[in-house]
Amino acid sequence: MEILRHVVVLVHLVGFAVLFGAWVVEAVNGKRRFTRVMDWGLAIAAVAGLILAAPWGIEYELNYVKLGVKLVILLAIGALLGIGRGRQRKTGSLPPAMFWAVGVLTLTNAAIAVIWR
Ligand code: HEM
Repeated sequence: MEILRHVVVLVHLVGFAVLFGAWVVEAVNGKRRFTRVMDWGLAIAAVAGLILAAPWGIEYELNYVKLGVKLVILLAIGALLGIGRGRQRKTGSLPPAMFWAVGVLTLTNAAIAVIWR
């Protein structure tokens, strides 16, 4: 059970890496657009995160306040990606604030995961 949980944590981290990695590529190449790869990363992190939010394979209490905050931030990232991709399609451009918000919120969720115990 414990090993299986660690595998799900690994999948969760892959989701984070895909989302944040895809965002960094866009930030560095100067295009600053939302891509499908970001959607995939978020979906992987979300599914694995929700599985980890259940107390199995551990002997300590989960911090549900922390998990609730992470869930709200994840939903905000999802809303930004959804609205932003719609705007990109219709107008051909993405407001810079929306682009930067996704990177900052993704990093915030990782920071919360690591720092808030
Ligand atoms: C973009 C969204 C998210 C990012 C970037 C993210 C990032 C991370 C990172 C980097 C870790 C590893 C921390 C460590 O082991 O010290 C982690 C662990 C974890 N995350 Fe997330 N997370 C996200 C969303 C969520 C959501 C929505 C949930 C559930 C509501 C969740 C639940 C968990 C749990 C339970 C762990 C601990 C796993 C364990 O040690 O058993 N995450 N997350």
